[in-house]
Amino acid sequence: MRSSGLDGIRPEPGQPIVVLTGAGISKESGLDTFRDADGIWSKVRIEDVATYEAFAHDPRRVHAFYNERRRGLLNPTVQPNAAHRALARLERDWPGQVLVVTQNIDDLHERAGSKNLIHMHGELFKVACEHCRAVLEWREDLSRDMRCPDCSRAAGLRPHVVWFGEMPLEMERIYQALGAAGLFVSIGTSGNVYPAAGFVSEIRAQGTPSIELNLEPSEGTSLFTRAIHGPASQVVPAFVDNLLVR
Ligand code: APR
Repeated sequence: MRSSGLDGIRPEPGQPIVVLTGAGISKESGLDTFRDADGIWSKVRIEDVATYEAFAHDPRRVHAFYNERRRGLLNPTVQPNAAHRALARLERDWPGQVLVVTQNIDDLHERAGSKNLIHMHGELFKVACEHCRAVLEWREDLSRDMRCPDCSRAAGLRPHVVWFGEMPLEMERIYQALGAAGLFVSIGTSGNVYPAAGFVSEIRAQGTPSIELNLEPSEGTSLFTRAIHGPASQVVPAFVDNLLVR
């Protein structure tokens, strides 16, 4: 039986910490997860809205899917929760680097104050131009006929979101950080989607301790040194308090 404390896995002050987050950390902020019973993929098919082929086949439908999610994220009731805020506090107060690698395309980590942050699956509030490769802030609905503000060409703007079959962003920087980590923390992710789901195996192979903070055991839970299960807004602040106490 794994103990639930940090004894034996607490990193030394100065050692870097890498935190992977998934949709579960934003659930209590009012954003749907993907694979829970009421999740996004229970309402729409990945192959209809989250692949490049889907976008080429029916751009209007794909734009509608992301426009709805972008509007949802703009809803003032959607705010960072105590888990996002705890990670920002960890980055501020831990005597060593803290990197948050999020699979989420929401901006709740930024709004909570996290600065050292990688969105490996892109960002809902950005668009990319297929003509000139510009990546631009974008908060309103997007449609195929809109012109790129940089190159003025139409029919080239897409959500700056990594679709299934596409390469996630900043993988080299992520693997470098994992290689140097003194502790790997995984929060609110089911461990279903690679390469993120494989990070814990890399960490295990190099002998670095790891902990899963999730509502329930993820697919890869047995690979973690430690696991604490419960709602992120409760288990993450408690974890950060425990880590910061000296
Ligand atoms: N607190 C903590 N964990 C929670 C909470 C909560 N309040 N609510 C749900 N969870 C957990 C679920 O138990 C589940 O393990 O969050 C996890 C969410 O898993 P998924 O819905 O699969 O989301 P995620 O792991 O982020 O998906 C990864 O898949 O569809 C793609 O690109 C998409 O980035 C996404 C990727």
